[in-house]
Amino acid sequence: MLYSLLRPALFLLDPEPAHALSIAALKLVPGGSQSQGPLATTVAGLHFPNPVGMAAGYDKDGEVPDALLALGFGFTEVGSITPLPQAGNPKPRLFRLSQDRAVINRMGFNNRGAEAAAARLAHRAGRPGIVGINVGANKDSADRVADYATMVRLMAPLASYLAVNISSPNTPGLRALQDEGALAALLDAVMAARGPKGPPIFLKVAPDLEPADIDAIARIAIDKRIDALIVSNTTISRPQLNSPHADESGGLSGAPLHDLALQRLRDFRSATGGAMPLIGVGGISNAEQAWQRIRAGASLVQLYSAITYEGPGIARRIVKGLERLMARDGFASIAEAVGTE
Ligand code: FNR
Repeated sequence: MLYSLLRPALFLLDPEPAHALSIAALKLVPGGSQSQGPLATTVAGLHFPNPVGMAAGYDKDGEVPDALLALGFGFTEVGSITPLPQAGNPKPRLFRLSQDRAVINRMGFNNRGAEAAAARLAHRAGRPGIVGINVGANKDSADRVADYATMVRLMAPLASYLAVNISSPNTPGLRALQDEGALAALLDAVMAARGPKGPPIFLKVAPDLEPADIDAIARIAIDKRIDALIVSNTTISRPQLNSPHADESGGLSGAPLHDLALQRLRDFRSATGGAMPLIGVGGISNAEQAWQRIRAGASLVQLYSAITYEGPGIARRIVKGLERLMARDGFASIAEAVGTE
């Protein structure tokens, strides 16, 4: 309600300063995580108070994880973080497509690097709440596989889970790591760096994949004992869009990604045969869409773009709506509903 009054003023700002302002505001919010309620669910051995998470890219440097949890998110994913600090692409590189309830970004992994993030996250070590860390490779790295291994080693002690992001469209060549041979070698290096006692490893994939890619990724992820797949990152495809900036290059997210991300989730559900938990992301903005994603096979969901349009109350609204939908459809738990469409 309050946000609908604030939003026009916020939208007078360019998206990057508006984002920075929202992070500054969240730094004033006292941290706190959710207690276990009717939506509590266990995935990859982690106990989530609810299945609604903040996706990677909002809190790139891990500045406000506890404030995001206090807003009602059941978990949050910091990052993507790369070994070395990185400026990202030239501005402008973030665009609101208001008529489409969408965002296009070509940020290019702007972040302050692993050392700064580790120092910041070490301050919250031991606090309750599930904070994943999403890791990437530097644009100029001579050995990207080594970058991921370094990040896994550095971040494992600080993370509830690690998300290996090989699906950003804004680092040239990164998505090639999804190719069969490259992926197997990458995941061998990641799992070796994680060691036997480290946190669960999630793999984040693109929505822009052919059926053969999907089968290969699913097979390799199962073979390498990845703990979950995050489906999906932003798309380089361009469905019908009506806003200015629709022609900007980069990854598209928000409402126009919804159908594609849902379809990819279904594809991965059938390719994995339910053998591995899936995390559904892309265009989710309300409880009905979150519930649909769960029924289609997602054990957890995440969102980012919708908070821009719906405001910081979105997590609580979706959680309340999910409680209602779960009761309506006669399920006793989220886990029981996963994949039942
Ligand atoms: C992202 N996303 C993203 N993902 C990731 O793994 N690492 C990252 O650094 C980023 N950065 C990022 C920046 C911006 C501005 C946006 C909008 C998105 C992708 C994000 O986590 C998510 O997968 C997609 O945005 C799809 O979900 P929504 O936004 O449609 O809910």
